Amino acid sequence: MTVFAAEQQAAKVPGIVLSDGNVIPQVGLGVLRIDDEGVVPVVKSALELGYRHIDGAAGYNNEAGLGRALAQSGWNGKVTDAVSKLADERGVDAQQLAQQRRAKLWVTTKLKDSEQGYDSCLCAFERQLGLLGLDYVDMYMIHWPTPFDWRSSETWRAMRELQESGRVRTLGVCNFMPADLERLYNETGQWPAVNQIELHPTWQQREVVAFCKQHNIAVEAYSPMARGADLNAGDGTIERIAAAHQVSPAQVILRWHIENGTIIIPKSVHAERQRQNLDLFNFALTPEEHAAIDALDGPTRAGHDPATFTYA
Ligand SMILES: NC(=O)c1ccc[n+]([C@@H]2O[C@H](COP(=O)([O-])OP(=O)(O)OC[C@H]3O[C@@H](n4cnc5c(N)ncnc54)[C@H](OP(=O)(O)O)[C@@H]3O)[C@@H](O)[C@H]2O)c1
Repeated sequence: MTVFAAEQQAAKVPGIVLSDGNVIPQVGLGVLRIDDEGVVPVVKSALELGYRHIDGAAGYNNEAGLGRALAQSGWNGKVTDAVSKLADERGVDAQQLAQQRRAKLWVTTKLKDSEQGYDSCLCAFERQLGLLGLDYVDMYMIHWPTPFDWRSSETWRAMRELQESGRVRTLGVCNFMPADLERLYNETGQWPAVNQIELHPTWQQREVVAFCKQHNIAVEAYSPMARGADLNAGDGTIERIAAAHQVSPAQVILRWHIENGTIIIPKSVHAERQRQNLDLFNFALTPEEHAAIDALDGPTRAGHDPATFTYA
């Protein structure tokens, strides 16, 4: 894909305005279960296709690889070889170009559960920022509410300081249920801007979504396709809708999320699937199709239960 075509594709992705005023691209690339070497070509390919949002975490053990991918593709805000080459081609200032490109990219990372706490969060963040090779991250998240040892409010205090210092733009949480969100609010006086939760057609978590909407917390769906399990959900419902629009089952599910206003971070290591997963803006579901996917909700979680799990 040419640089121009990638820019056009990136421009089609809506921005979701968060409670803190920042704007997050509604589609990003997730990089869970990709090793540190493997993540480099995967992220480079996504950036070349027009992805402008990457969802990482300390716990994925690939922040250094993600950092190398951003540097090699000229997206880390520094004047790397890639940026110098592009600036020469365009006849523009390399420093300015580096900063403009960084401003167009959204990078999320998350704190490990074992590093929750005021001092340990500040220390972990320094390490993470260094691995990523960035001057700031766009979103820093508490990865799990750590039900066995609640330290989210102390962690939040450190995260607020990081935000005030300009090294984090947006603060978020993952896997917080309404009781966790309420506890965080009661102890800190703040709601997070984003809650990243498992959400897909067969696990819609409507009560959590309604609670988040009520408190102006944007919902971000992880495992938006149930790690692939929902692609043939509903006895072929998804596949039938896909055939009607001549798109793939993945595109149908991701389009359903887009129409719900949910932020999504599908993961794929394959460039062709990455392309599909971003190409969601040339068709729309009919109200009947949308309702048919709504009706697939069920008791099938693909991941872990936040009430009993910690990721360490
Ligand atoms: N905060 C948390 O606790 C948490 C937990 C889980 C996940 N996450 C985040 O959410 C991201 C996405 O979740 P996920 O990776 O669990 O699940 P997912 O995005 O729902 O599904 C990924 C799976 O679907 C396949 N796939 C991707 N696109 C496809 C397509 N167009 N057609 C057919 N198959 C396709 C992928 O295979 P290939 O890679 O082989 O293409 C992979 O096996 C993660 O990478 C991570 O960033 C966060």
